[in-house]
Parts: sequence; structure tokens; C-alpha cells
Amino acid sequence: MTHLKQLQTAGLFDTNAPRYTSYPPANHFGTGIGTARQAEWLAAVPDGAQVSLYLHIPFCKRLCWFCACRTQGTKTMRPVDAYVDTLLIEIDRQRALLPADVSLSRLHLGGGTPTILTPDIMARLLDRVFDRFARGAGFEFSVEIDPTEASAALLDTLIAYGMNRASIGVQDFDPKVQNAIGRQQSFAQTHATVAHLRAANLRSLNMDLLYGLPHQTGPGLTASLEQVMALQPDRLALYGYAHVPWMSKRQLMIDSAALPSPQARFQLAEQAREMLMLDGFVPIGIDHFARPDDGLSIALANGQLRRNFQGYTDDTAEVLIGMGASAISKFPQGYSQNYPSTAQYTSAIGAGDLAADKGHVLTQTDLWVARAIEQLMCRFEINTIDLRAQFPAEACAIARTLSNVAASFPQALHYREGILTLDPMFEPLVRIIAGKLDLFKSEKTAHSAAI
Ligand SMILES: C[S@@+](CC[C@H](N)C(=O)[O-])C[C@H]1O[C@@H](n2cnc3c(N)ncnc32)[C@H](O)[C@@H]1O
Ligand code: SF4
Repeated sequence: MTHLKQLQTAGLFDTNAPRYTSYPPANHFGTGIGTARQAEWLAAVPDGAQVSLYLHIPFCKRLCWFCACRTQGTKTMRPVDAYVDTLLIEIDRQRALLPADVSLSRLHLGGGTPTILTPDIMARLLDRVFDRFARGAGFEFSVEIDPTEASAALLDTLIAYGMNRASIGVQDFDPKVQNAIGRQQSFAQTHATVAHLRAANLRSLNMDLLYGLPHQTGPGLTASLEQVMALQPDRLALYGYAHVPWMSKRQLMIDSAALPSPQARFQLAEQAREMLMLDGFVPIGIDHFARPDDGLSIALANGQLRRNFQGYTDDTAEVLIGMGASAISKFPQGYSQNYPSTAQYTSAIGAGDLAADKGHVLTQTDLWVARAIEQLMCRFEINTIDLRAQFPAEACAIARTLSNVAASFPQALHYREGILTLDPMFEPLVRIIAGKLDLFKSEKTAHSAAI
């Protein structure tokens, strides 16, 4: 059997699977994790701990058809201004519950489009963050940037407040693909944003690209990648386009007949991966690439790479606090997610409370499965000795479950000195294999294609 046939037989081309940016995936969060539990978890953060902060800005001036992010369109700044006022209250309210001497490991502004904020509104937001939270050792501040919606004045404001990582959305530079996904963005616009940031000595630049888009071809993707490499990013995220129109209604605007077949998608991913590796990028997990001296490559080499809601991270903080509509917080005890709609979020904060809606309390079983899946997604292996030592009460369940999973993929998974290793040829199956450990059974339609 050829390699492709083996991947096909294992379900690569007809399986939907979670991306496991969390375990359990967010669609399994249930009600019953109210604000009382969120407050309890905030208060339980140890004195002197470093925590990370994610602020969600759910607004965009344009609504790209392909986008599955939680966002809403606006033509004016009025709702954005009002939303930031609510965010300021939430910052105060969550901060008041934390120990006095926590400090920030990371601050990430995501969306939507954080760069939609005017310099004044951004300064108001960042003044509040840095007034309430001290920057910890090794602090990093990153922002998602849409080059078509990021004024030079706003970029200067972000730099002045210490932004040292920027993530720029590109997706694809081919005009035919851009028209098919409802997102126009010229190379010149993107270049101008990059040049501005580099001139201000921005240290680290990431770019987001997608494979599997309508009308995307091998030569077209090569041309886009060449343009991207000319911009000299330090990191790249190369995500498989998640076509989930039943969840993201805007995607109904996309002609599904123009999407590449699952096999063609796989070829596009492989081709891009080869090209980036030839250029010296280190592959990081399923969909990231980084220069060898980048923090992600270093974390991979020293075993500290982690998976989080942004994909991969070298952040070692145990607590991630999400603020804003739909934002998710991660604590050692579990997850809590704010109300997804801006109206519900605003009224929860307006009523004088926190805004947690759903979430999940992690059991001991969840904790070891989460750790095993994270190891697989980061390193394509599971260290069964470490796992059993870390969760001694679960040792029998761990041994039984992993040996069943290994038996289901005899060609792909091998035990070597207590480490269950995924053969590099079979790495594309990693989300499907992780799914075998997943105790929360998913509807097929709840997730995107496994490749
Ligand atoms: C919040 S968005 C982008 C930030 C900014 N608004 C922009 O447009 O540049 C973050 C990233 O999510 C990714 N993304 C959005 N929708 C996606 C989808 N349907 N499938 C895969 N990735 C997607 C894109 O790569 C995008 O750059
Ligand atoms: S890709 Fe960016 S600009 Fe486009 S809709 Fe999504 S968040 Fe908004």
C-alpha cells in the first residue's frame, strides 16, 4: 500500500476532528460554570504567580467570508468605544479577585480586529491593563494585526506600549483566491505594515496563511509563499482552511465547488511545508513554522512547547485569563468562557458581575488525557512514563488506553523506551489519533476536516 493509501485508509481524507487547542474542545463546555466558580479560581491563583491575559476585540470593519472567528461588523467606532468601556470594568473586576502580587507573563490582543481601535481608545485600554498588572520577567505583548485596518498612528501607539510580537493576517496573496474568500489585501499594503513595524524595531513577526482555499493551486500557493518569505517573518502559521458553513454562516458566500479536494488539500499542505523547511523554518506541531532562534523553536527543543488557544506557545504561565465577549480563561482547575454575544457580555458586566457563561471542571482523567493530547500535538509522542508518574491514580487507565490506541494504528505508533511515538510519515494523522483519546464524543459536523 502506498503512503497516501495508508493515510486514506486511516481516514485522513474523510474525517473531521478537533484542532485540540484545548481539551476538552470548547464545544463541550457546559453550563453550570458560573461566575462564582470563575471567582473561586481567580482567588486560588498563587501569590506571586505569573498569569497571561487575552483581550478579545470582536469587531471588524470588513467581514471576510472565510473567517470563522467570533467577530461582528461595524461601520463606526461608537460600539467599539462602548465595548472598551465594558472591558475596562471587567479588567478591574477580575483583577480585584487575584492576589495583589501577580504579574503578567503575556498580553495578547486578538479578535476580530484589535487594530480597529483608534490610538486614543487603545491607549485607554492599555493604560488600564498596565496600571492594574505589573509586567513580569520575560513579559511579551502580542497583537493580531489586519494590515488593511492598522493606521501608522495605531501601530506607533502599540509599539510605545511595548508590543514586541505582531501577528499579521495574510491568508493568500493570489487575487483570484482573495476574491473567492471575500478578503482583498495587496502585497503593498502588507509590506507597508511590515516595514513600519520593523523600522520601529519590532522583534518578532508572525504571519497567518491558509491552505485549502477556493481556487488555490500549487503554483499559486508557491507564489504567495515567495511573497511572504520576502517579508521575512520570524514565524508562520499555516492553517488548513476550516470550511464549516453550518457554523459560520458567512462561509455560505464561498463557492464550495471551487474548494480543492481533500487529496489536493493534503498536497498543498505538504508542498508548503517542504518549501518552508527548505527555507530553514523549523516545523512546530501541526501548523506552525519558526526560525531556529525563535522562542517556539527553542521551546520545542527543550520540551517546553505548549498548545493553547492561539495554537502553539512557549508561555509557561499556568493561568490564562480571557476577557471580553466569548473569551476563554484556563485555570489548573478548568475552563470558563464569557458570554459569546457582545450584548449578553455587556449586560453581565453591567449588572455588576463577572461574565462567565460556560466552562468545564477538569477531572483527573481529563487532566491526563489533556496532557497526552498536548504532547501528541506538540511533539508527536506521548511520554507514558512521565504521564503515569504525574497521575499515579490513573496509571492503569493510562496504560490500557494508550495500548488500545497503539493497537489501532500499528504502522503509525511505536513504543520506544516508554515513549509512544508517531512515525513522521503518519504525522498528518495526529488529530485523528488524538481523537481516539478524546472521551467527549463529537458530532462529525462540530469540527473541520482533519487535514
Ligand atoms: C482573528 S483572525 C485575523 C486577525 C485580523 N482580523 C486579520 O484579518 O488579519 C486570526 C486568524 O484566524 C485564521 N482563520 C480565520 N478563519 C479561519 C478558518 N475558517 N479556517 C482556518 N483559519 C481561519 C486566519 O488565518 C486569521 O488570520
Ligand atoms: S479575517 Fe480578520 S478582518 Fe476578516 S472577518 Fe476575520 S477577524 Fe475580521
